[in-house]
Amino acid sequence: MNDSSQDRVGSEGRRGFLSRSWKLVAGLVLATGAFVGYKMITRTQLVRKKVVLDANALATIEEQGVVLDNDVVYVAESGELRVFSRVCTHLGCKVELRDGDLVCPCHGSRFDLRGAPENGPATAPLNSIEVQGQVGGDRWVEFDVEG
Ligand code: FES
Repeated sequence: MNDSSQDRVGSEGRRGFLSRSWKLVAGLVLATGAFVGYKMITRTQLVRKKVVLDANALATIEEQGVVLDNDVVYVAESGELRVFSRVCTHLGCKVELRDGDLVCPCHGSRFDLRGAPENGPATAPLNSIEVQGQVGGDRWVEFDVEG
């Protein structure tokens, strides 16, 4: 092989490398763009929700002890009103009331009526939601839900 053929092979090698590098960069840019686009489309938005607890609602919670609505759990115990998110802290299913405990139907986590985990796989308590307003007057809770 003479010098000119070696130059040609070296030049084609560099061209091939540059061509492959360009394709790799273009592929990475396209993949990143597709990922960002997918995330933007599938992004869930949180919506602030306010639930006013009028005298009838408070009486029902007091009478039943535990009331579940679509998003939260109301617990009335010894004159105290506690509210928790129904979203299980393991992977986000909604807990249900079973045998006096809050149980997640997806993987079986069990929470007590203070929201503390009794059985996993969840290890974190249910998210507590502050009850606002005056005892004996209007009360309400505000929390974020996926919209
Ligand atoms: S999502 Fe509740 S235990 Fe897994």
